[in-house]
Amino acid sequence: MTLKLKDIQAPISSEMTDFEKKFREFMKSKVLLLDKITSYIVKRKGKQMRPMFVFLCSGVVGDITEASYRGAALIELLHTATLVHDDVVDDAGYRRGFFSVNALWKNKIAVLVGDYLLSRGLLLSVDHGDFSLLRIVSNAVREMSEGELLQMEKARKLDITEEVYYDIIRQKTASLISSCCAVGAASAGADEETVQHLRDFGEKIGMAFQIKDDLFDYGNNEIGKPRGIDIREKKMTLPLIHALNKADKTDRKHILKLIKKKSDSNAVVREVIDFVKQQGGLTYAEGIMEQYYRDAMAMLERFPDNIYRKSLGDLVTFTIERTK
Ligand code: IPE
Ligand code: IPE
Ligand code: MG
Ligand code: MG
Repeated sequence: MTLKLKDIQAPISSEMTDFEKKFREFMKSKVLLLDKITSYIVKRKGKQMRPMFVFLCSGVVGDITEASYRGAALIELLHTATLVHDDVVDDAGYRRGFFSVNALWKNKIAVLVGDYLLSRGLLLSVDHGDFSLLRIVSNAVREMSEGELLQMEKARKLDITEEVYYDIIRQKTASLISSCCAVGAASAGADEETVQHLRDFGEKIGMAFQIKDDLFDYGNNEIGKPRGIDIREKKMTLPLIHALNKADKTDRKHILKLIKKKSDSNAVVREVIDFVKQQGGLTYAEGIMEQYYRDAMAMLERFPDNIYRKSLGDLVTFTIERTK
């Protein structure tokens, strides 16, 4: 049976409804243009997996508190801010099944909207004195910027290795998901060792999450955002890195030259995708993703077997089984 987010949310459905209301309020602005854009963003909401990780981790270790809500809202605000910026950086015209902010209002406005969302998140925490929470999340934001910049450096030089790929995705994606789990635990009053355990658990989920996202780029399914765009942007992800490692020298040189010279041509993107498939790049990446998945699932065993743990496990499974 395929898992649905709605079912996974069952033990935290009232929390998610409350969260959405608060999230919408936090974004409000008196500046008309800004209010128009944030309303647009709220309408095209994403999967909201990060707040779910926060609430479920709180539930697994103790009680969901007011601080859990603020943690969830802070993280979703920062996540949204980074997506708005990421689409500028990646020159992507679609997000969540519709036009991205940069596609509708141009880059200049998208950069400022991203900054606004970031500042709203920071204020939410500062106003409530949530400093330990803010420390966890600010570190993640620093890592995300570093990860995206490291990725850009590697896209320019086309010299990425599998090890560096893991560093990049750990920084740009796993760090935030890891902080969801840490914030969830900390806001429920867990001890330092448990917070660290769930932080490590979240990191594993985050790694699987980004490998899944990178696999979507090679797929045929509609995912609400552009496909083939990683190759176009010269972003070499795990399937391609593995394929290049496996190929003979001539093929390797040929593919690298194509990416270097004309990665924005549809024919080149198609050829690279075929090459990756032929070399078993997708199967390899799926295998690594499943390893992270199993590691994460095993880390749940120490917690009492209740509805929160069950849903948290399902959300981890959803991470690698999802279709968008
Ligand atoms: C997209 O995250 C950004 C990545 C880290 C790959 P999500 O897939 O969680 O995005 P939304 O919020 O559901 O749109
Ligand atoms: C993850 O990278 C994005 C962030 C960390 C903001 P991607 O560029 O692969 O994300 P998508 O595919 O655009 O959502
Ligand atoms: Mg992107
Ligand atoms: Mg992507």
